[in-house]
Amino acid sequence: GELLLLNGPNLGILGRREPEIYGTDTLADIQAAVEKEVAERGWQVISVQHDCEGALVRSLQDAHGTVGAIVNPGALMIAGWSLRDALAAYPRPWIEVHLSNVWARERFRHESVIAPLASGVIAGLGALGYRLAARALLDRVP
Ligand code: DQA
Repeated sequence: GELLLLNGPNLGILGRREPEIYGTDTLADIQAAVEKEVAERGWQVISVQHDCEGALVRSLQDAHGTVGAIVNPGALMIAGWSLRDALAAYPRPWIEVHLSNVWARERFRHESVIAPLASGVIAGLGALGYRLAARALLDRVP
């Protein structure tokens, strides 16, 4: 099986993006950590990052054959309605991840338009959140 690791805007520069908030792990580090978690099941990880919402939507449309997904929507959590619709059409379990504790931050980060559709949401645990999401999917996907 293939697991989709989908990251939205400004997450391609992890490692040097406000490291005091987002940590120093790069997206490549996170991908490697997720690969390690799911190797026991023989899953491959398809890691996709886009700054543009439409590209994320297309990636989800193209990923209908994957076993599940880990999604960090970045700021598209706030008003990413076409991303939300693409996730509604995504037929497999998926977990929303935020590196930072969005509720401990500015008010505009307190609501996610995609969270009501997620199997679960992990926030505030840094890069570990992605690994925990991978473990959750191992548990959810038969
Ligand atoms: C984020 C939180 C969002 O509010 C922010 O816009 C991001 C990163 C996180 O991982 O903590 O881009 O999704």
